[in-house]
Amino acid sequence: QWTTSSIVDDQVRRIAEQIGDGRAICGLSGGVDSAVAGALVQRAIGDRLTCVFVDHGLLRAGERTQVERDFVSATGVNLVTVDARERFLDALAGVTDPEEKRKIIGREFIRVFEQAERDLKAQGDYKFLVQGTLYPDVVESGGGEGTANIKSHHNVGGLPDDLQFELVEPLRLLFKDEVRRVGLELGLPATIVGRQPFPGPGLGIRIIGEVNQQSLEILRTADAIAREELTAAGLDQEIWQCPVVLLADVRSVGVQGDGRTYGHPIVLRPVSSEDAMTADWTRLPYEVLERISTRITNEVPEVNRVVLDVTSKPPGTIEWE
Ligand code: XMP
Repeated sequence: QWTTSSIVDDQVRRIAEQIGDGRAICGLSGGVDSAVAGALVQRAIGDRLTCVFVDHGLLRAGERTQVERDFVSATGVNLVTVDARERFLDALAGVTDPEEKRKIIGREFIRVFEQAERDLKAQGDYKFLVQGTLYPDVVESGGGEGTANIKSHHNVGGLPDDLQFELVEPLRLLFKDEVRRVGLELGLPATIVGRQPFPGPGLGIRIIGEVNQQSLEILRTADAIAREELTAAGLDQEIWQCPVVLLADVRSVGVQGDGRTYGHPIVLRPVSSEDAMTADWTRLPYEVLERISTRITNEVPEVNRVVLDVTSKPPGTIEWE
């Protein structure tokens, strides 16, 4: 019978044995897996671990703070943040094709991360790379079947083979719910441990049309409002995730105050699911939908319409791109 604290003890011991007196690097995405993997390794080797967080500018409101302030204060970890926002915006300028966006984001991410690693290696002998690989990832990458092939999944932290590192994968035998329990046991904040899935390419694949500073700001504000209201209504546990999508390529006519508007629609895509392979649209209470809609149209001047996606998966995917 494995208790959470025995999993922690066991992993900490194994990590300490594997790394010895060496040094390790861990890429943080803001998500649960990399945070828990990093926290475990921190517990095992202390400040011989350095975490690297790439801010690609496609994050949601508050996510950078969650890593820089909350994760660091919970773990005491050494953190290097790379601000790569401009680089990603430049690379994405004029791009609207979903797969092209994913490729660009994946490519730029790897370049930025590799540069950060080279910088660290120049200062010390970092031989180990921590990865938040879970048991289902291990199984899936063997087969690679199903919807995994529909979109090229770029996992932040997914790195090329030719890197000169030995991998440390302390979550390799765990499922997601176990990882969350381990995270809580390690004292990580609920905002990180309980985070719903969020794609590596971030808001970049939730803007239908060009990703630029303005479209990112519109979407980030609308997304923060939707999340705030869903949390306030106590619905986080019922929803697998709720992508908020900006149709930057679409405009519709509206009326607000005394004037005609010609703004963009925001799509709410709340889904219920067990594993993201299939999903059903979540029947959210009308009052909650109304609050989200009213707030978004009042607080985001560029948006004059909020629509609800009532498509299951299949035929729709969870994300719009
Ligand atoms: P779809 O849209 O394929 O999404 O129904 C299934 C699950 O995967 C997430 N997702 C991604 N995660 N990189 C990721 O790390 C990606 O490119 C990506 N695309 C989709 C999505 O949020 C959902 O949980």
